[in-house]
Amino acid sequence: MKILVINGPNLNMLGKRETGHYGSETLADIEGRINDRAGELGAEVEFFQSNHEGAIVDHLQEAAGNADGIVINPGALTHYGLSMRDALADTALPIVEIHLSNIHARERFRRRSVVAPLAVGQVSGLGWRGYLYALDSMVARLKEASQT
Ligand code: DQA
Repeated sequence: MKILVINGPNLNMLGKRETGHYGSETLADIEGRINDRAGELGAEVEFFQSNHEGAIVDHLQEAAGNADGIVINPGALTHYGLSMRDALADTALPIVEIHLSNIHARERFRRRSVVAPLAVGQVSGLGWRGYLYALDSMVARLKEASQT
């Protein structure tokens, strides 16, 4: 079972960036924790981060054929990234959307997600642990699906 874990623009700056919203863990710290959790769950994870929407589209087109699910924090692309949204839809894979901050409790523009209608669900506002909850639920869902 292979899960793509994708992070969008500016998430490479975690740890330095608006720590009040996003916490002090770096992306490498979070990826390390996700990797550990994936090991416990018997799942494989593949990480990708880009500041460029087209690079995320390229990655989805290249990697989705070999994957079972997607956990994605699209960063600001969440709110307007329609080519990323279409590439996600084309994968036909289950998607869990995750945000470190609670996008529903911040500026109005953050409340809209172009990804949410495609997603199995959304984790928002639970900090770095949200990635682990997203992974847990994705793996549980895929295990259930493989038993039916
Ligand atoms: C974010 C929320 C977005 O609105 C913002 O643009 C980000 C991070 C989050 O993880 O809370 O870059 O996706």
